[in-house]
Amino acid sequence: MTRVFSGVKPTGHLTLGNYLGAVRRWVREDQYRADALFSVVDLHALTVEHEPARVRRLSRQAATLLLAAGLDPKRSTLFVQSHVDEHARLSYLLECTATDGEMRRMIQYREKAARERGRGGSVRLSLLTYPVLMAADILAYATDEVPVGDDQAQHVELTRDLAVRFNQRYGHTFTVPRATRPAVAARVMDLQDPTAKMGKSEGGGPGVVHLLDEPDAVRRKVMRAVTDSGRDVVHDPAGRPGLANLLEVLAACTGGGDPAELAAGYSSYGAVKRDVAEAVVELLRPVRERHAELVADPSYVDGVLREGAARARAVARPVVDRAYRAVGLLPPV
Ligand code: TYM
Repeated sequence: MTRVFSGVKPTGHLTLGNYLGAVRRWVREDQYRADALFSVVDLHALTVEHEPARVRRLSRQAATLLLAAGLDPKRSTLFVQSHVDEHARLSYLLECTATDGEMRRMIQYREKAARERGRGGSVRLSLLTYPVLMAADILAYATDEVPVGDDQAQHVELTRDLAVRFNQRYGHTFTVPRATRPAVAARVMDLQDPTAKMGKSEGGGPGVVHLLDEPDAVRRKVMRAVTDSGRDVVHDPAGRPGLANLLEVLAACTGGGDPAELAAGYSSYGAVKRDVAEAVVELLRPVRERHAELVADPSYVDGVLREGAARARAVARPVVDRAYRAVGLLPPV
């Protein structure tokens, strides 16, 4: 059976981008057709300055939201990364496989490091090695497919390179995974700046729709989305990125139609925005409602995470043990 692994980082409230780029496929497709594991990857949240209590709160919220979005613990395994030691154990072996040049070429590292330095801050070493930990997340589960948005494609490519290199050096140990992406909305853009990805870490401004936003907040954000001043409605990502983003979100919300075809049905930007706002409100309504129910039942969420961690450990342990032996480490005596 195909093995699927993916994760979400608890650095902020989950966004519409996380949902359309990744989570929706996990809950609607992957968990029904594959042996699927999903993780709240909390160790990754430590690569930048963070408040401990907030990371804890956001980790729990992310797990609760994944359940609210439809992740079924009977079908898939949901766990918190730091509850399973194998991630950190394997990460070190992969640090011995990767090169520093490879790390420095990662686009997300370059962007985030430049931002940190621009603020006069320092860059944590873990920000540089982050993709190695991500590779460990994936390879520890003998993963075949990694459902992610476009921004993670380069990290999954690196994971493949590391798996192949390790296997060549030490004998076949890791499954070589591949990324899968959604047909539309693989990169949802910020509603206020359609040249930037809609991201949860950047303070969650007016251009970011969060999964727990109230309907009126969603409507306000969508209606105020930045577009150009054109009149005719066409899907032109290069020339009209704001409008293209709205059309892609609409296509994703309404069943994955073609954004260019959708555009043909509209004669004003206002009408597009109104339909996007209502489509997003309806998409998120059941998630918000279910989240409220689950928050009232924390012991249920605890139970899911406890069981999830136990299942995840059982899968990862033998894979990581095999890798330890392959590189020449003496087995415990
Ligand atoms: P993270 O937490 O930033 O995002 C979680 C998932 O959401 C996708 N995504 C988007 N998709 C479309 N449009 C957007 N604006 C958008 N923003 C985010 C991401 O592509 C991702 O699939 N490094 C990862 C977390 C991670 C991971 C892993 C993922 C750690 N280990 C192993 C897969 C497998 C990250 O920061 O995702």
